[in-house]
Amino acid sequence: MPIHENLTVDTPVADWLNPQELMTDPYPSYARLREAGDVVYAPALQSYLVPRYTALRETQLHPELFSVRSSDVNTMMERAFGGNRPMLRKDDPEHAVERQAINPTLRPRQIAQTWSPRFAQTVEHWIDHLLEVGPENADLNRDFAAPVASQNLIDLIGFPSEVHVDSLRRWSTDFIDGLSNVMSDPDIWARCDASRAEVNAVLDELIPHLRRHPDASITSHLLEVNLPEDVVRTNVMLTISGGMNEPQHMITNMVWALSTHPDQQRTVRAGEVSWGDAFEEVVRWVSPIGMAPREATADIEWFDAKIPQGATVGLLFASANRDDSVFPRADELDVTRNARGHLGFGTGVHQCAGRWAAKNAVGEVAVPRLYERIGSLMVDDSRQVSWQGWFFRGLTALPVTWD
Ligand code: HEM
Repeated sequence: MPIHENLTVDTPVADWLNPQELMTDPYPSYARLREAGDVVYAPALQSYLVPRYTALRETQLHPELFSVRSSDVNTMMERAFGGNRPMLRKDDPEHAVERQAINPTLRPRQIAQTWSPRFAQTVEHWIDHLLEVGPENADLNRDFAAPVASQNLIDLIGFPSEVHVDSLRRWSTDFIDGLSNVMSDPDIWARCDASRAEVNAVLDELIPHLRRHPDASITSHLLEVNLPEDVVRTNVMLTISGGMNEPQHMITNMVWALSTHPDQQRTVRAGEVSWGDAFEEVVRWVSPIGMAPREATADIEWFDAKIPQGATVGLLFASANRDDSVFPRADELDVTRNARGHLGFGTGVHQCAGRWAAKNAVGEVAVPRLYERIGSLMVDDSRQVSWQGWFFRGLTALPVTWD
């Protein structure tokens, strides 16, 4: 029996919701969902969706009602990572042990002292590369955002310098495709399996090395708290998925946003708004993670809806960030607004562990330095700009040019 036949109160039903339209441009559907209610059942996704800000925040702040664990033993995330759950699929107290292990690598002071200088070196190298590709052919995603985000993550997880940026990028893409493989496409699982084997091969050598010579990396810190080795490996794979793809998308999102809003670009470049605040506003406006799932732990009455035990609940971060009751004229980019409190990094115990690293690497290093070195950088309208996805949404191509 479909879950929605269990409903005993008038939970709004979005029978019009079309996953294909979400893939192309989810924002019109998000607007309709927000109009429909705090919790809306979507038959096409067999999920209860939470599209408004306050209800979403409350849902995330009640993990005892909305768990990240799924009773379905073979979740996409476990399948992608070879049968194990990373911290993002565990509730506290189990989750806290793994999360606390990686926090020291990613605290603001550690970012400023250890990682930011490395992010800066990487950015110089890839701006040189972008300039070599030239203003006629440059694609900011391919020639800058992807390799910069890959190299930053290679450093953060302590992988050796022989690991090529293209390998890390491929692993990240394969894992991300696996995490959203709702149709269980066997080709995607095959790619995931191959990438997992390659990551495990690197870890086979790295783990014994880091046990003897600990460093500041995420992998080293996971080992230091004596977690079982398969737990360390799974969390490294989680970090490879989210820690590369999202910063990559934020580099292109920021340049696209500032190119299409030249007045706001001038405001930021003149120092009237900090780069960090501009970064936060772009995360709010075009959030790289559109949705994350939870599971109802009991029959729950929640914001006028009744959600049955075991139902999948979709937290629509990207929609909540366009809620006008919290962010006036939310559909508009406005770098001068206070975007703090946006849900682009989630909230509660699973709030993004890498948010300070991403803000520094993308918002305070990569994008400002791009504009410093290539002052006339702009989107090249004569070539095709492409967006893709809604679970994870970003630009797959951003042709850029300069004078
Ligand atoms: C702009 C870039 C990024 C965005 C928009 C982003 C977004 C998010 C979101 C929304 C969540 C929460 C998901 C949920 O509640 O189900 C999350 C969790 C997480 N993110 Fe990020 N992320 C970004 C960058 C990074 C980076 C650079 C790293 C690592 C270096 C990272 C590591 C993680 C980890 C480990 C978790 C799981 C935390 C936990 O379960 O406690 N993220 N991220």
